[in-house]
Amino acid sequence: MSTGTAHWGSRLTFVLAAAGSAVGLGNIWKFPYMVGEGGGAAFVLVYLACIVLIGMPVLVAEWLIGRRGQKNPVDTMRDLSAANGRSGAWVLLGASAVIVGAVILSFYSVVGGWSLYYTVEAATGAFAGLDGSGVEALFEGMLASPLTLLLWHSAFMGATIAIVARGVTGGLEAAVRLLMPALAVLIAVLVLYGTTTGHFGETLSYMFAVDFGRIDGGLVIAAMGQAFFTLSVGAGVMMAYGAYLGRETSLLSAAWTVVILDTVIALSAGLVIFPIVFANGLETSAGPGLIFVTLPIAFAQMAVGSVVGFVFFLLLAFAALTSAISLLEPAVAFTEQRSRLGRIGSTLVIGGLCWALGIAALLSFNLWSAPLPLVGLGLFDALDGLTSKIMLPLNGFFAVLFVGWFLNRRGVLEELGLSGLRAKVWLALSCVVAPLGVVAVFLAEML
Ligand code: PHE
Ligand code: NA
Repeated sequence: MSTGTAHWGSRLTFVLAAAGSAVGLGNIWKFPYMVGEGGGAAFVLVYLACIVLIGMPVLVAEWLIGRRGQKNPVDTMRDLSAANGRSGAWVLLGASAVIVGAVILSFYSVVGGWSLYYTVEAATGAFAGLDGSGVEALFEGMLASPLTLLLWHSAFMGATIAIVARGVTGGLEAAVRLLMPALAVLIAVLVLYGTTTGHFGETLSYMFAVDFGRIDGGLVIAAMGQAFFTLSVGAGVMMAYGAYLGRETSLLSAAWTVVILDTVIALSAGLVIFPIVFANGLETSAGPGLIFVTLPIAFAQMAVGSVVGFVFFLLLAFAALTSAISLLEPAVAFTEQRSRLGRIGSTLVIGGLCWALGIAALLSFNLWSAPLPLVGLGLFDALDGLTSKIMLPLNGFFAVLFVGWFLNRRGVLEELGLSGLRAKVWLALSCVVAPLGVVAVFLAEML
């Protein structure tokens, strides 16, 4: 299949695949706990600013690069920089992106495994009758067991490998077209449930009444990292997906679709989680366990909670799967196009490496919990922080810089169908605001 010549069946297939990549654990697992750690509305505001001013231009830049190159991110950057008389060093952007995608997949799959585990727990009625401390014990128990984590991480990674081995341009459409609306409906139902807890107003002011005093360097870099993570930019993914894209698709309208969908789902996830947190006196700053120690309480209290819980975690696992597939694709495309391993062999080798790194990451929850020297974090947190806060923004910075300053400007505007005021806005964003924004955030964090 996709040897750089395979293409999406239609514009819709592409948009669905890109949305499937964007919408995932980042929205439902990561966004709420980062809001909780960042102190609510201040984080949300900076996050939204980063989405529009930085994430969106980077997304368009990555698709544009990918579509022009029609190869894996490494060879695409090599070809494009050569064709435009630019330095061969740009190939490093492709290489870095491909590596980051694979590294993210390693710990992403561990959390995908948590979703699978919770799917089974919900189905077997394990949430029934649990209160706050009961669900915490359930979550802690899972983390304490290396074998449980290994089993579900392996199951999740196995599913990812099985799909990527057959090529991503074919099979994703049906899954995304069916499951994404189902997930959206279920989240809407859970938001409605949140309005019955008596803590919905508190949630609204927690998420949207901004206390500007809380904004500092640490918050800003976390919010920017989350904006990159949630839009799947900086990891070679959107570049790789753009490579399977034909000339006719409008990048800007596709980008708006993906950005709006992703943002609505993330904000809704917050509206689901925080009423439960407040109603049960839980900690907003519970960290990566937040959704796993809040949602089961709600499911325990609902009439058909086991069913709702089962469906919810299953859909979450599927949303995670369509993101995981996209994370594996760039490195596999590179390996396939550069080696003789073939599609299946490349998927097994790269997927196997990610699986192994994931095992090291999951051990940091139990057997290997000592913080790593220098970084002071366990491996799971270190991989998460390093990729989101540093690598994704760095790669995104160079991608948007490349399109803004190193490609022929008239050609870019033509390709995006922009003229007049809209062209000026695009140029301001891609040439100035987005790159400077990344630099400013890095500086804010360091100073
Ligand atoms: N955007 C995905 C999510 O929100 C995660 C992801 C990050 C996917 C980077 C691809 C690349 O869950
Ligand atoms: Na996302």
